Amino acid sequence: MGMIAVDYDGLIPNNVGLGQDVRVKRALEKWHPGYIGWWMDMGPEGFQNALVYLRTAIGVDPKGWAKFDYVRMPEYRWGVLLAPQRDERKIPFGSHKGEDAWQEVPGEYRAMLRRLIVIQGDTEPASVEQQRHLGKTAPSLYDMRNLFQVNVEEGRHLWAMVYLLQKYFGADGREEAEALLERRSGDPDTPRMLGAFNEKTPDWLSFFMFTYFTDRDGKMQLEALAQSGFDPLSRTCRFMLTEEAHHMFVGETGVTRVVQRTCEAMKEAGITDPYEVDKIRKLGVIDLPTIQKKANLHFSLTLDLFGNEISTNAANAFHAGLKGRFREDRLKDDHQLESGSYPVLRLIDGQIKNDDAPALSALNMRLRDDYVADCQLGVDRWNKVIADLGIPFEIKLPHVAFHRHIGEFSRTNADVEGKILAPAEWTHRRTDFLPSEADKDFIESLMKPQFEPGKFASWIAPPKVGIDNKPGDFEYVKIAEA
Ligand SMILES: [Fe+2]
Ligand SMILES: [Fe+2]
Repeated sequence: MGMIAVDYDGLIPNNVGLGQDVRVKRALEKWHPGYIGWWMDMGPEGFQNALVYLRTAIGVDPKGWAKFDYVRMPEYRWGVLLAPQRDERKIPFGSHKGEDAWQEVPGEYRAMLRRLIVIQGDTEPASVEQQRHLGKTAPSLYDMRNLFQVNVEEGRHLWAMVYLLQKYFGADGREEAEALLERRSGDPDTPRMLGAFNEKTPDWLSFFMFTYFTDRDGKMQLEALAQSGFDPLSRTCRFMLTEEAHHMFVGETGVTRVVQRTCEAMKEAGITDPYEVDKIRKLGVIDLPTIQKKANLHFSLTLDLFGNEISTNAANAFHAGLKGRFREDRLKDDHQLESGSYPVLRLIDGQIKNDDAPALSALNMRLRDDYVADCQLGVDRWNKVIADLGIPFEIKLPHVAFHRHIGEFSRTNADVEGKILAPAEWTHRRTDFLPSEADKDFIESLMKPQFEPGKFASWIAPPKVGIDNKPGDFEYVKIAEA
């Protein structure tokens, strides 16, 4: 039990004993060319021959699981890595609480489990597709490298989910694995499964907001699935979370550096009023009100990923022991939730009010609440940068009712404070809250590539430290001539 050594020699690096599992090995080897085809078609455009200083997972020991080296992305070693099995792990919640964790798919929950894996799997390639044009406008080689790091790891996360499908779900797992390569972000006929993954990521501020807000939804979902009674899913997600931490680092520090550069430029120019937008933009930086609008957009789109506040699916998945709560193992209650309630924010008679719902039905709401609290921590750090530079401005998360397309508040138009607006007023004030065409054009005008080692575009500050402790002028990407 426990750790299987990583086999790094074959086509597919793995610690799941693929060498002894001929059926699954063949299935994955058959899937591999389609994956590479997808990567070449939909992966980072224009940089497939570049040498990128990437982190590759080579083990699952928390102390030394990765190595850094120059790699051409199509030659990245995408592998199947599960966190070590824990001896005698028990199902931690739901109606099977206390029973041995499942090592095989429990027949009665097969369809539900497959659906959870497919939905998670679908998000992984989607974000690569959304971000594929960004390399060309990277504000530095450091940032370009981080983009590609996130991209190859999302590719690995797809491998992680496809392994589970191929290993545990037979013919329908195989079909789902194929379909994951066929859907395309934003495609009108074969879109990705979830709304936020069909939106565009048109510029680098969007990329940082996406990795801050939307990858953080990924973290919450993975945390909930890491609790699963289906042990292979739990182990897969636990290892994915190790990689995911870097994605959120990219988002949080990315926005921090944008905010910092803006405030520094304002200070240098003697501007203290953050609403002197025209003057600030002339400095070649992004004004804070526009950064706020971008945050409003990405936060609200991401909240939709948590689904309906009251959800039978979520209740069923918990009851079955398949998907737990955020850090279920640290919570102190009966972990079954057959009784008890949870306050759910609802639209009642045109007013936003708390309403107690059965705890089991309110699990999406609860995960969303945990998410909002997690988001706030980084926002506080952004605000500290602004305050330290003496600019009177605070970035705020908008009200959860703002700009929603799924759940309670999809039926109404709330402003960022949660005040319900009449439809005409919403239309009129929309660009007070969300980026206008002019805002987008301005941001777009700043998206000029800066590919000289150690140099950064005008609108973003350099990072505090390099990746893998490399010096400031390190050439993170060696761009190929051809
Ligand atoms: Fe991921
Ligand atoms: Fe991610």
